Amino acid sequence: MIKVAPSILSADFAAMGEAVKKLKNQGADWVHFDVMDGNFVPNITFGPDMCKAIRPLTDLPIDVHLMVEHPAEWITPFQKAGADILTIHVESSERHLHRALQAIHAAGMKAGVVLNPATPISVCTHLLTECDLVLLMSVNPGFGGQSFIPETLRKIRELRAEIEVRGLPTLIEIDGGVNPETAKLCRDAGADILVAGSAVFKAESPAEAIKAIRG
Ligand code: DX5
Ligand code: ZN
Repeated sequence: MIKVAPSILSADFAAMGEAVKKLKNQGADWVHFDVMDGNFVPNITFGPDMCKAIRPLTDLPIDVHLMVEHPAEWITPFQKAGADILTIHVESSERHLHRALQAIHAAGMKAGVVLNPATPISVCTHLLTECDLVLLMSVNPGFGGQSFIPETLRKIRELRAEIEVRGLPTLIEIDGGVNPETAKLCRDAGADILVAGSAVFKAESPAEAIKAIRG
């Protein structure tokens, strides 16, 4: 079953609570929460305090995508803020990714790594047993509303093949430029979770958009 994770980066920041409250009825599976530090990526969004603020408003899992340097420093703050899933970039300054993934698990959250478009799948091969999910970026991180990079499809197929051959339960999440059309390509290539920001929040009917993305 495909999961859809609307990215609240594209929601109205002045009405964030209302947007989050509606997501479950609109058919969302997870709330995708984009953390940017103005350093790893050229943009700044929000942090643990925002996570804490929205936590009581939904029972959907909060999927925190850390686009920050030193991501391990944020494991405890996000655990305390009620996050369910924490993903860290392999390109970040974290040298000990394996240890960081273990620390996320020890903190009671699901863990995963994120790969930028330029990063090969081989980087995460030896981390897969520690990953509940791998997030493949289908745009360069930092902003919503960019176009899907088609090369991502080859990466999804490669990762899917590796996961299947080893019989692992690791899920594949795709983030960036996902709309009903690119979602179909991702599903066919073997994706499990589809993140969508603008395609959901800028749609006339977010519920219809989520349905179309799920396929
Ligand atoms: C980009 C973020 C995405 C972003 C996706 O750096 O990680 O989650 O919100 O937005 P869309 O779906 O508009 O590309
Ligand atoms: Zn994201």
